[in-house]
Amino acid sequence: MRKLTGALLMAAMLVPAWSAAQKWEGLADTPQMGWNSWNKFGQNISEKLIREQADAMVAEGLVDAGYIYLNMDDCWHGERDADGFVQPDPKTFPSGIEALADYVHSKGMKLGIYSDAGRKTCAGRTGSFGHEYQDALQYARWGIDYLKYDWCSSENINPRGAYTLMRDALRAAGRPILFSMCEWGTNKPWEWAENVGHSWRTTGDITARFAGNPRQRGWGQTVLSIIDQNAPLRKYAGPGHWNDPDMLEVGNGMSVNEDRAHFSMWCMMAAPLILGNDLSKMTDETRAIILNKKVIAIDQDKLGVQGLRFKTENEIEYWFKPLEGGDWAFCLLNRGTEPVECNINWQDLNLTDDEVSHLSTSFDAITYNIENLWEFNAKKAKVGTTKKALKVTVPGHDVAMYRLTPNKK
Ligand code: GLA
Repeated sequence: MRKLTGALLMAAMLVPAWSAAQKWEGLADTPQMGWNSWNKFGQNISEKLIREQADAMVAEGLVDAGYIYLNMDDCWHGERDADGFVQPDPKTFPSGIEALADYVHSKGMKLGIYSDAGRKTCAGRTGSFGHEYQDALQYARWGIDYLKYDWCSSENINPRGAYTLMRDALRAAGRPILFSMCEWGTNKPWEWAENVGHSWRTTGDITARFAGNPRQRGWGQTVLSIIDQNAPLRKYAGPGHWNDPDMLEVGNGMSVNEDRAHFSMWCMMAAPLILGNDLSKMTDETRAIILNKKVIAIDQDKLGVQGLRFKTENEIEYWFKPLEGGDWAFCLLNRGTEPVECNINWQDLNLTDDEVSHLSTSFDAITYNIENLWEFNAKKAKVGTTKKALKVTVPGHDVAMYRLTPNKK
């Protein structure tokens, strides 16, 4: 009897921990998709802005396309109250975060918030250091669904300890909150954070620049410099734990070719797709890029494998990403500024992904149908099969991107 009581007691103690872990699972089986205020609006955010972006997200069909998280970045914060609970800035968020969360939820979206493991955020607002459990509880009470957790003023803080502490605080608060680690790759989170965060930043901050030298070490990254840092980390990514090469700059000033290449490559790398432009003022070109469902499907593929750079020939990189059901995504990235004519002989591209999926393209044994993912005319998008070589000219700072599907006939 005593043994039985002991066993029951143990089972009862295990239940809360188990159900909290269950809530945690499944939040990022595919990379998260949404919008974040930082890249376009920086420190100038308000509840009015967030509501406007929420309205635009619905009106533009972005929510239907899968962009469900609407994330406030730095500078929503006011002071802590007498009990230490963090409050929003009363001037810019006068109705409070709970009202904002209700609004965002009523539109079919989820609300994200931002904090920092140190005493101060990167813009000098209050950080979570010493208040981790209290902050997690506050977010849960407000109805928050996503936390981006930054790494400024973190001197003398152990990174693994700090991020695990916040993970545990979020779990204890009891609400499923996606945990997006923003530690910039400084302490190699890919080596230790598989069970800590749903994603981790792999680099310093992105800017709306495609190429050229990063402005400073770590900061002012370009699309190409980020690709080069993120590419070797593919073996660490998978469902529930993604490499995060930072938020998108599509629509923030690069050329249409560069925006298309940036978006395509983030999808090839199974990156979180967090838009960073003003959704209330978009050009048709920006719309066509971020709403390309066939390209989004490459990112969101259930297999959850980050793509691989198979080879580089002068300015052209050959990328492959294995997909569910034997399909492959294939992308030619032109790093240079001049157009390059490519003659794709499929037999030269036989490869096995030894590192992650162990799948092979087997072009000698399998014939694939080829679909051009950036051709919007359905008929023209079908560009034959891998029985014949493919000729394509890739413009400077652009891509050609295809889905290969085994021909079952
Ligand atoms: C850091 C992060 C950015 C952004 C800013 C906010 O630089 O890496 O993504 O959140 O802080 O201050």
